[in-house]
Amino acid sequence: MLCLGIEGTAHTVGVGVVNESAKVLANAYEMIRPEKGGIHPREAANHHAEHIVPLIRKALDIAGVRAHDIDVVAFSQGPGLGPCLRTVATAARALSLTLDVPIVGVNHCVAHLEIGRAVTECVDPILLYVSGGNTQVIAFSRGRYRVFGETLDIGVGNMLDKFARETGHGFPGGPILERAAKEGKILLPLPYSVKGMDVAFSGLLTAALALHKKGESFENIAFSVQETAFAMLCEVTERAMAHVEKDEVLLGGGVARNRRLQEMVDTMAHDRGARMFVPPGDLCIDNGAMIAWTGLLMHTAGVRVAIEDTVVDQRFRTDEVDVVWRSEKKAARPVT
Ligand code: ATP
Ligand code: FE2
Repeated sequence: MLCLGIEGTAHTVGVGVVNESAKVLANAYEMIRPEKGGIHPREAANHHAEHIVPLIRKALDIAGVRAHDIDVVAFSQGPGLGPCLRTVATAARALSLTLDVPIVGVNHCVAHLEIGRAVTECVDPILLYVSGGNTQVIAFSRGRYRVFGETLDIGVGNMLDKFARETGHGFPGGPILERAAKEGKILLPLPYSVKGMDVAFSGLLTAALALHKKGESFENIAFSVQETAFAMLCEVTERAMAHVEKDEVLLGGGVARNRRLQEMVDTMAHDRGARMFVPPGDLCIDNGAMIAWTGLLMHTAGVRVAIEDTVVDQRFRTDEVDVVWRSEKKAARPVT
């Protein structure tokens, strides 16, 4: 069985093709890089509209299959930016109707978790999902993926991007800060905001910008921003692991590519006798393959969606999804 998935919640539009063994046959994507300022939803949607058909062709080409070999079409139904979601949903509906195959709407956050379970060896992890727009600690409990902690303001990636942009270092900020942080020597005091299970980053951003204005070196600030923000993430992840008694932690989202974050989470996991898992980089970022795989899991479990029910949901919550394809502790991959 082949599922083609289309992702397009924010910056990235992507098309992936996967089979029932979670083999990623294709994972093509294009990302809009705003020259100045943040992402404009309408411009991103136009970008996605322009690239979506060539990306579908490219993904089929890479996978070495024809459009008519596709059995299911999946798309990112939310959460995300309205115009982007609607563009992708329209493409997915058109494809499903043209090929006369079922369509399924996928929750973007759940997809980050499912692709991680499929391509790494973890079975029942806590997901630390860290991207531009999202920062959540998610785990499976009683039939749902539940959010145990999240950001109260901006996503951690957004904070890194804003800091880099406002100090004239370009976009995306995460990798730029990661490189600079390696040269940082001094840990400068920055606000450490953990509130119960939640985190907040806007105070840290303001304080980091103030240090920059005062003439502190970019390398030292980058180092301090990473150490502080990632320590906050480790703290809430560890608390969630203890609370729900999980001994696996999975990273997802673009920020999960950061080696220092991986190192810190790995140390935390190791200290408590747990293990950390990180999917390959292009399955960490927003991508079509994760949507395709989650769509395939849903379809196989009997989820059927009428075209009328494919309306997008900008605020689609992780815990709204009835995870019918999973029983407690079941492995995502077929056991061979
Ligand atoms: P979402 O819609 O899930 O919020 P997104 O549009 O932010 O996703 P992703 O591709 O998941 O997209 O993540 C992009 C973010 O990841 C950016 O904020 C970017 O700065 C950050 N990022 C990428 N590489 C690194 C890195 N090496 N270190 C830290 N952050 C990184
Ligand atoms: Fe994402």
